[in-house]
Amino acid sequence: ITEIWRVFYENYPIFVDGLLGTLQLAAITVLFGTVLGAVIALAKMSKWKILSGIANIYVEVIRGTPILVQLYIFAFFLPIAFPILANVKEYYMVVISLIINSSAYVSEIIRSGIQAVDKGQTEAAKSLGMSNRNMMLKIILPQAIKNILPALGNEFIMMIKETSLASVLFINELMYTRTLLMSTKFLSWQPLFIIAIIYFIVTYSLSKVVGYMEKRLSVSD
Ligand code: ARG
Repeated sequence: ITEIWRVFYENYPIFVDGLLGTLQLAAITVLFGTVLGAVIALAKMSKWKILSGIANIYVEVIRGTPILVQLYIFAFFLPIAFPILANVKEYYMVVISLIINSSAYVSEIIRSGIQAVDKGQTEAAKSLGMSNRNMMLKIILPQAIKNILPALGNEFIMMIKETSLASVLFINELMYTRTLLMSTKFLSWQPLFIIAIIYFIVTYSLSKVVGYMEKRLSVSD
């Protein structure tokens, strides 16, 4: 314990920097992943078979392959296959890859959140002669948001952990501090424990926040 504490004390700016990198990566991913995920959810629910078919394949392929494989494809394969991408910084390729990964999961969050709203609500809105657009904006979405927001919070927590995979591509985030401290200060096991503790503190507190949010949002039920 004293050894771990000493290593933390002597290197804490590196860990703080790594944590900030992780939070930034996860926040960007979930933010843009939500925008893209909303588009994909709409496409999936579209009456237009080709569009919903493509959206379906997108979600299945991305959820059916490991995030690490996707990261490698974006960082190593795409820049070679498409020379225009060769000048894009690796960090951006990693970010795009993570956004795409998250968007597939978020699209399911949004779709199931919308479809979980009671059928009776749609029927009531229609019987009142509401337009589809009005019904969606005023009746369905305000109720769906209660299912969607907590799940997006969980996605953020998930991405805080998943972005640790970016460390294999030398992206500055929390897990990468281990690589850093190993190569510069020959520290091997101590950073691992420090990193684990930091991840746990962050995800545990965030999951408490999400739990509280869930409770508040369901008050009106
Ligand atoms: N770790 C799994 C994978 O590599 C799950 C990824 C979860 N991603 C997400 N955006 N929720 O595929």
